[in-house]
Amino acid sequence: MKGIILAGGRGTRLHPLTLGVSKQLLPVHDKPMIYYPLSILMLAGVRDVLIISTSRDLGAFQALFGDGKQLGLDLSYAAQDEPRGIAEALLIGADHIGTDDVALVLGDNIFHGPGFGEVLHHHVADIDGCVLFGYRVPDPERYGVAEADAQGRIVSLEEKPARPRSNLAVTGLYLYENDVVEIARGIRPSPRGELEITDVNRVYTQQRRATLVDLGRGFTWLDTGTHDSLTDASHYMQLMEQRQGVRVACIEEVALNMGYIDAEACHRLGEELANSDYGQYVMNISAAAPAPWLVAP
Ligand code: DAU
Repeated sequence: MKGIILAGGRGTRLHPLTLGVSKQLLPVHDKPMIYYPLSILMLAGVRDVLIISTSRDLGAFQALFGDGKQLGLDLSYAAQDEPRGIAEALLIGADHIGTDDVALVLGDNIFHGPGFGEVLHHHVADIDGCVLFGYRVPDPERYGVAEADAQGRIVSLEEKPARPRSNLAVTGLYLYENDVVEIARGIRPSPRGELEITDVNRVYTQQRRATLVDLGRGFTWLDTGTHDSLTDASHYMQLMEQRQGVRVACIEEVALNMGYIDAEACHRLGEELANSDYGQYVMNISAAAPAPWLVAP
């Protein structure tokens, strides 16, 4: 399965923070925002990832991650200079997707919950059409809203409905079979001039090939769209990390745990950041991991 992170847009609701910097590079506590969705793809077993952002910002993402080899990943980059819709990511990424299935994630979506890696693995292995992830919110009119039957088959989907039929918001993580590229090619821009991802998902809904996974209680999905929600996200991560003693979305740790890199490589990544608590954490977890290079032959 291939991955795409869509990290474009103008971030106007966060002005002036985003006048000179991509929204998805802003800090969420101890790391750039994009670490959170990247770690989700990594947990799903996806290592070949296209990052899409504006020409202005692509250089900064490249400076951050390079080709991804240090994390055992294969990262590439593409530009979307105008926000012509989330579904356009599937057209920009068509060559990257090739003949594979694809996981698309929005670069500003933060997921945090126990066992999410297993949930993803389960669904990645067996996609019929598309798999969407729903989260109960008090203000569904701000999101894509899904209605599903008892088996999780989606029966209706609406984008920012005035009168939502459920309180299940569709989050910004989408798993698709390869035919999504053809479906995305077939949709027309919405009245606001965008290729809406909800229109793509609605095609699958009509074909009865759209599944909704309810993220359920105990799970956290965070919004970073406003100054207050961005600060709240930082506070949430700070609290979680302090109380639990583990870091959320530490991409070096995920790479180590997934077997993408060995403990020695992880340690070297930590050393490069040794001046920060984050770097110290990466060095510590690599030392705690089974470390073949420390064991006498
Ligand atoms: O976050 C989940 C929601 O994301 C879903 O519930 C909605 O169904 C979906 O349409 C989307 O709604 P938003 O109102 O949050 O979309 P927004 O236009 O704010 O874009 C979300 C992110 O994607 C944002 O960080 C900017 C980026 N983006 C967006 C568009 C339209 C791009 O990089 N390029 C684009 O063309």
